[in-house]
Amino acid sequence: MVHIGEIDEMRATPARPAQWHGHACDTHDKVLLEGIFDAIPSPIAALDASGLIVCVNHAWLSFAEEYTDKVQAYGVGNNYLEVVRARAERGDGSAAHALVGLRAVLRGEKPSFELEFPCQGPCKERWFLMQVSPLAAQAGCVVLHVDITARKKMEQDKARLASILEATTDYVGIADVHGRELYANRALRQLRGLGLSPHDPLGNVIDCHPESDYRKIVEEGMPEAARMGVWSAEVAVRDASGREIPVHQLILAHPDATGKIDFYSTIMRDISETRRQADELRRAYDELKRTQEQMVHSEKLASIGQLAAGVAHEINNPIGYLHSNLGTLGQYVQDVLAMVTAFERAVEGAADPVCRAGLEQAKRETDFAFLVEDIPKLLEESQEGIQRVRKIVQDLKDFAHAGDNEDWQWQDLRHSLKRTLNIVHNELKYKAEVHLDCEDIPEIRCLPGQLNQVFMNLLVNAAHAIESNGVVRVRTWHEAGWVWVAITDTGCGIPQGVIDRIFDPFFTTKPVGKGTGLGLSISYGIVKKHGGRIEVESQVGRGTTFRVGLPVEGPEDAE
Ligand SMILES: Nc1ncnc2c1ncn2[C@@H]1O[C@H](COP(=O)(O)OP(=O)(O)OP(=O)(O)O)[C@@H](O)[C@H]1O
Ligand SMILES: [Mg+2]
Repeated sequence: MVHIGEIDEMRATPARPAQWHGHACDTHDKVLLEGIFDAIPSPIAALDASGLIVCVNHAWLSFAEEYTDKVQAYGVGNNYLEVVRARAERGDGSAAHALVGLRAVLRGEKPSFELEFPCQGPCKERWFLMQVSPLAAQAGCVVLHVDITARKKMEQDKARLASILEATTDYVGIADVHGRELYANRALRQLRGLGLSPHDPLGNVIDCHPESDYRKIVEEGMPEAARMGVWSAEVAVRDASGREIPVHQLILAHPDATGKIDFYSTIMRDISETRRQADELRRAYDELKRTQEQMVHSEKLASIGQLAAGVAHEINNPIGYLHSNLGTLGQYVQDVLAMVTAFERAVEGAADPVCRAGLEQAKRETDFAFLVEDIPKLLEESQEGIQRVRKIVQDLKDFAHAGDNEDWQWQDLRHSLKRTLNIVHNELKYKAEVHLDCEDIPEIRCLPGQLNQVFMNLLVNAAHAIESNGVVRVRTWHEAGWVWVAITDTGCGIPQGVIDRIFDPFFTTKPVGKGTGLGLSISYGIVKKHGGRIEVESQVGRGTTFRVGLPVEGPEDAE
């Protein structure tokens, strides 16, 4: 379509003839000019100073046909300002904007004007850049519409990608081959305490990581990424305060067209939570293992307990008649000695020197005087020994049956303490003196077997805390309806960081096989069951006191 020729015919007042290179166009020029004009793929229109369309190319009319429903209005002889104004009045914001720009250029108020605007075509939306430039030689301007749909799409894609990068909680960065940061996403900038605008200055990869991890990245990560395209590892990244956060880091190498590495990109994911969960899992696994060990241990203890109870029962009988026979023997020995004394006197009275000398010699040879003195002592000591064995056997039997369907009973805790001390005597005797300092206390309603367990654990713990030459002091007192038992040791004490955890099941500082960490948690449960309290006070290097307070009447729900 040729339009330049039509100008004169269509305009009411004839326009000046088209000029090219300062000459009036002859027909040949016109044809050439029109050819060039039509060969330009972008829509172009020339307007005169009043906005009248004086010349359009082929692409302009195709554009009008495709994107407007008023093709005629875009042809030569129409006023383009009117066309644009009509669009603006229909609510087209871009048209309103274009109208202002067009006018400004036509009036010489602006050297040029540009506007990007969308056009809804039959199939899809396209974007154009409207460029308005004044005509140098004559008043008026040229309007050029450049199709920028492809560029716009790229920009949109880029903006979407950027918004994903900016929104992700992963730390994303780009650095050049020297480690200088070219880009850091919002999460990374925030972590490092950098400005939050993408234009704020960045730093260097070296500032991001602890020294050893930085070295690993530079010496291992970047070369491997350059060779293989990618490298990943678990490292730490430093936040603004210097705190180290464990991350899983991926480094990608990006070569240019010649194969030389252009830049590196990285994605780091915070794995603190994963690590925490893994630690928890490991702890749970360890605890499970300990529980299993403990169950085996308890199983063993139970069998030992049963065995001990059986042996105690067996020992009880012979000890019984040993005790009784020793009593009788003591009596017999006294009778025999009385008889011997009577014989002695009789022999002295007989006055037979040979007989007397024989008797004296026999007395000397047997150290008779010493025998007379020592035999009752021996018997007495043996009696005491037997008493002690009987007591231990009885305590063992009590312990073996402790907690077996035990009923709530009234009990003087001093008996429980003495009995328990008897049992743990062996643990304590080489390391500590034991002082028992018992005020008068009333009987309390309790499960004595279970309280024995509590005292036993506290006493054994005290023994374990003392290395040598210590003192364990056991006190009892009565106060406002409660009976208190305090067990104090001069042992190693409990550090502050540990004291909050000693009642936790399986918490132990003892080597494997020495403690299960259940003693205090079981004791706590037993004291609670009695409606009581267990308190601890400790000083590292000085010792520890555990206080157990129990209400005299027992708990309300005791049956
Ligand atoms: N008198 C004490 N002095 C110092 N530390 C103590 C004392 N009593 C308890 N502890 C600390 O508390 C931890 C837990 O004690 P607990 O009696 O529950 O378990 P355990 O003695 O380690 O093992 P278990 O009693 O099951 O054989 C001990 O490992 C120890 O670290
Ligand atoms: Mg213990």
